[in-house]
Amino acid sequence: MSSNDSTAKTLLVAFILSIVCAIFVASAAVVLKPAQEANKALDRKRNILAAAGMLDDSRSVEEQFAQVSTRVVDLRTGKFAPDIDPQKYDQRKAAKDPATSQKLGEDEDLAKISRRENYAVVYLVEDPAGAIEKIILPIRGYGLWSTLHGFIALQSDANTVAGLGFYEHAETPGLGGEVDNPRWKGMWPGKKVYRDDEVALGLVKGSVDATSAGAAWQVDGLAGATLTSRGVTNLVHFWLGENGFEPFLHNLKSGEA
Ligand SMILES: Cc1cc2nc3c(=O)[nH]c(=O)nc-3n(C[C@H](O)[C@H](O)[C@H](O)COP(=O)(O)O)c2cc1C
Repeated sequence: MSSNDSTAKTLLVAFILSIVCAIFVASAAVVLKPAQEANKALDRKRNILAAAGMLDDSRSVEEQFAQVSTRVVDLRTGKFAPDIDPQKYDQRKAAKDPATSQKLGEDEDLAKISRRENYAVVYLVEDPAGAIEKIILPIRGYGLWSTLHGFIALQSDANTVAGLGFYEHAETPGLGGEVDNPRWKGMWPGKKVYRDDEVALGLVKGSVDATSAGAAWQVDGLAGATLTSRGVTNLVHFWLGENGFEPFLHNLKSGEA
């Protein structure tokens, strides 16, 4: 038996190989981290533009995002929080930390998110003169299997929907997952949020009767997915309601934000 067949040598080779592989994997993770972060940020911008119906695939996302300003809003007061840097603020993390969020009462927690962060990052599309054209707000809430994360975009009247989209969820493809269907998302633009100062926007079971008085506030329900549909209605009601962005939208309109 040659000495290369000894158990000690086999173990040594296995050990060295595993160290080399570990170093390789660890360095790849470290080296690729900035690229991953950049891609994540780019993807977020793409989702924001898509929700607002502004995504143009023939132009770069960065170029299109140049007309969007990123701001932080204090959800407790409905006013901008200029002291908080939106690039450094992690809203998802803040939503889990008792120091930066507040527990919602059972009757308040329509979206089933349990805690609401004190600050939210919002996106404003402004024309060259600085007038607001669109307001893009982050929304989230529980469907059937998962928390759906997305954006709703409003026109400058803070009442007409410009678009809606979810970028993360784990609802069933073909059922609740139809929230991603472009045809369904296409039903949102033009719908109204508020009726007599209450959030009235939501999904109906089946199809909207276009001749009914409430049609302007209604979107078709997702077929075979009543629970996801209810979740979407509830999260829209929460985020556009008094514990969500309603105070901010109110202030924005009156110039007091
Ligand atoms: C495997 C499986 C996956 C389902 N996924 C969803 C879903 O993602 N969203 C949903 O609302 N309902 C889903 N359902 C159906 C719900 O259990 C429930 O039957 C449905 O929401 C009732 O909707 P309907 O009244 O429109 O039929 C699923 C059912 C099964 C068996």
